[in-house]
Amino acid sequence: MNNGTPIITIDGPSGSGKGTIAKLLAERLGWHLLDSGALYRVVGLLARRQGISEDAAEQLAALAREMPLRFDAEGRALLADEDVSLEIRSETAGNQASKVAAVPAVRQALLDWQRGYARPPGLVADGRDMGSVVFPNAEIKVFLTASAEERANRRYKQLIEKGLDVNVADLAADIRERDERDRNRSLAPLVAPVAALELDSTHLSIEQVVQQVLERVAQTFPDLL
Ligand code: DC
Repeated sequence: MNNGTPIITIDGPSGSGKGTIAKLLAERLGWHLLDSGALYRVVGLLARRQGISEDAAEQLAALAREMPLRFDAEGRALLADEDVSLEIRSETAGNQASKVAAVPAVRQALLDWQRGYARPPGLVADGRDMGSVVFPNAEIKVFLTASAEERANRRYKQLIEKGLDVNVADLAADIRERDERDRNRSLAPLVAPVAALELDSTHLSIEQVVQQVLERVAQTFPDLL
């Protein structure tokens, strides 16, 4: 328990489905949701807008510490009063996020921010290092993967539905490049936490993944479900 709050962490690479799974779990359990990737995406967006280079570690960390970011009840990301939810979802914003996420001072600056989300009745935290670094005492740690091809296909469908013109081969190349960077950075690389429930979602439906996690929740917190 973290200050009396039960925590489920869901880590994994882009496109593994962790965002969708984390959101569904939080809804079904009535728990809070932390989309930690959104924090890195907003830092990346601000850095681009303000022309701060990815080498300027201290300036980036100051951005991360001082950004006037909050999430409303619908999960929209508000920067002061500006809704940046759509802008941070673009491929460019994802790449920018992965670059600022490799800067140790930025990760450090976001630690307290993220830990502050551990509030009753519980938290589902989605990211890359939720179980390994941010919430090492979480009761349930899930590591969700899927093949790079399947992840590129899923992303392709999402973007086509939004009316964007994209190419699946470019997406697969982008996903591999981002995985490389996220797995090989020196601080908090993407790894399966110790004792994680490892699920490969390549051939599983969203509902099947949610059910497997809920089974673990029922074993871990028998009084809850
Ligand atoms: O989950 P996402 O695609 O929104 O994350 C965007 C980038 O942020 C991703 O490339 C890696 C980084 N990230 C991270 O380093 N640590 C986290 N806990 C979450 C995201």
